[in-house]
Formats: sequence, structure tokens, C-alpha cells
Amino acid sequence: MLRFLTAGESHGPCLTAIVEGLPAGLPLEPGDVDAELARRQAGYGRGDRQKIERDAVRLLAGLHAGHTIGAPLAMLIANRDYENWRERVEPAWTRPRPGHAELAGATKYGLDDLRLVAERASARTTAAQVAVGAVAKVLLREVGVRVSSYVQSIGDVTADVAGLDLRERLRRAADSDVSCPDPAAAAAMRQAIDAAREAGESLGGIIVLVALGLPVGLGSHAHWDRRLDGRLAQAVMGIQAIKGVEVGPAFENATLPGTRVHDALYPDAGGRPARRTNRAGGLEGGMTNGEPLVLRAAMKPIPTTVSPLPTVDLATGEATETQYQRSDVCAVPAAAIVGEAMVAWVLAQALLERYGGDTLDDLVRRVEGDR
Ligand SMILES: Cc1cc2nc3c(=O)[nH]c(=O)nc-3n(C[C@H](O)[C@H](O)[C@H](O)COP(=O)(O)O)c2cc1C
Repeated sequence: MLRFLTAGESHGPCLTAIVEGLPAGLPLEPGDVDAELARRQAGYGRGDRQKIERDAVRLLAGLHAGHTIGAPLAMLIANRDYENWRERVEPAWTRPRPGHAELAGATKYGLDDLRLVAERASARTTAAQVAVGAVAKVLLREVGVRVSSYVQSIGDVTADVAGLDLRERLRRAADSDVSCPDPAAAAAMRQAIDAAREAGESLGGIIVLVALGLPVGLGSHAHWDRRLDGRLAQAVMGIQAIKGVEVGPAFENATLPGTRVHDALYPDAGGRPARRTNRAGGLEGGMTNGEPLVLRAAMKPIPTTVSPLPTVDLATGEATETQYQRSDVCAVPAAAIVGEAMVAWVLAQALLERYGGDTLDDLVRRVEGDR
């Protein structure tokens, strides 16, 4: 079983993660993780926090000579902003921001200062998830699986990707600061982000998460909690501000008759069944079917806005307005990187469940034998 835990608050000294269950012999260096951390920090529309942080991982345990040894892997990412906050004495936050975890979290845990909720609810913690996902990606790479993403829309601006195959979309997105494969839409997205900033507003959007090179049969139809569609949706929905996930064009499929949706099978040159379409998004019966995995996820607009929202001061019970805290205007490109990490994690888990292997060599041999 592959599992992980993270700990750490937004302005605490550091974020930490422990990954347990990795096969021995996996080559891993800090650069593998740092490259993903840098991708998470980038993207047009981020706030000033990203100018302070230069995320870099320390690999503290579980490695010898740059390879895993079967022991838990411990990772640490320092919060540079900690130094700016450690001496500060702030009055308690008593005005919950709508759309944030603060009101429900403070009620649940009996906390007088909403900041204590915001500190852990903050998406700063996704840096630790991205570090874990980077390790999962290294494992997947060893068996020829690649996880990537692009941004389909920001606010009401949508990329036109008609005529571009999936690989071309991913290639183009990699060169864009809004991860958008359509240059005209990318320019309009930047304008929309600038306009939102001007107006004291925030924006959400839709991300597309893709995995290529998957073997058939990860997950299982046999029980609800082993179905990979459900497990992937849970992992992606677990990311802050992600409020919807679809597999393939699921919502469009729901409007069409069955013969226009289901991916027909035809014999290939060797007589094996092959598909010419992928409207199932790479999953049938809760299992990978050998086609690219394609998920879409909807991110709500960032809940912190310069233009205030009505709220209630919990100290007085009176109507008031939210107080602005430093924030991203739009974090859709960053959410795509977090989404990749969580998809990679679930796929790595499912891969090890199917093929096992205490060493990387065992695992690779089994996957290749199966292919
Ligand atoms: C990459 C990323 C960056 C985010 N940045 C901010 C931010 O700067 N300010 C903010 O208020 N919310 C931000 N959020 C969203 C909040 O963390 C989230 O909306 C909040 O914790 C409440 O959780 P919920 O939206 O899942 O209900 C970000 C989310 C992600 C995925």
C-alpha cells in the first residue's frame, strides 16, 4: 500500500510530507521535486506570496545514494514567509470570509481566531501535495506513464482546441504562462485576469488533467471504492476550490444518444480490439482501458477579493465586510499542477496495487510483461 501524510501551516516554519510504500531502487533527486514545485508557483495571476517563496525540497529520509530503499521518504519544504510573521502579534481574525473554511472550521474546532483555520485550509499546503505527486510522477515515468495538464478556461474565456490532438494541446500549454494551448485565448485570459485585479475581483476556471501511456486494468469494477473514476474524483475534489470533476466529456455525453457516446471497437492490424474515439476519457467500469485518461475539473473563483463581501463580525454579531488578505487573483494554472500531482498519486497507488513489487526492477518487469 502506498500512502502519504502532510503537515504544516501556511505561515509555519515548513511543510512536511511522508510517503510510505515506495518500491526500493527508485532514482530520486531534489531536482525532480523542485521542478514541480516551481511549476506550481508559476502562472499569471498569482499573488505576492510567490515572490517571497522559492520552494525547494529537502529529502530527509528514505534515500541512499539517490535511490529509495523501501523506507518511508520524508520531505521538507521551508516557508520563507515564516520569518516575516514569527514576531508579529496580530489581533484575532473575527470576520469570516465567505467561500473560505473559516466559519465552519472555527465553529467545529472551537477556535476564537479564524486565522488558525485559514492557516491550514490555505492552498499553501498544496506545495506538499505537489512534492508527493512529483515522487509519484518519477515512479510512473519508469513504466512509461506521463501525467500533464492544460487550462481550458479562465473566467468566461475558453480555449479553442478544435483540431489539436491531445499531445499537441499539452505541448502548447507547456509554453504558456496560463497553461493554455490556444494563444489567442491565452492573451484574452491574461486580459481577464488584469481586469479582475483592477476590479478587485477574482476568477476561477476549468483545468484538463491527462495521463498517457497507462496500462489496461488499473482500478477495478468489482467494488465501489476500488473504482478508479471515484478515486480520481475524490483526489482532485480534495484540492482547495475544486468543485466539480468530469471524466471525458461526461456532461456533454449526458445530452447525447448512446450510439454517439460509446467508443466503438474495431480490430486493429493484429486482430486486437481498438478504439477510434475516447469519449469515455480512458476509463470503463472504473478501470483504465488503455486510452488516455482525461479528466476536467472546475475551480471556483478565489474566495479572497479586494472588493469586500458582506459578513458578520463574530466578536460583535454585527454586519460588516470582509477584510482583504494578500491573495491570488486567479490560481487556475497552479491548480492544474496540483491536479496533476493528485492524479499521479492515485495512478501510482493503483499501479502498485495491480503489479506490486518491492523493488523498481520487479515492478517494471511486471508492467512490461503485461503490456
Ligand atoms: C493553487 C491554489 C491557490 C489558491 N490561492 C488562494 C488565495 O491566494 N487566496 C484564497 O483566498 N484562496 C486561494 N485558494 C482557494 C482556497 O484555498 C479555498 O477556496 C479555501 O481553502 C476554501 O476551500 P474550498 O474552496 O475547497 O471550499 C487557492 C486554491 C488553489 C488550489
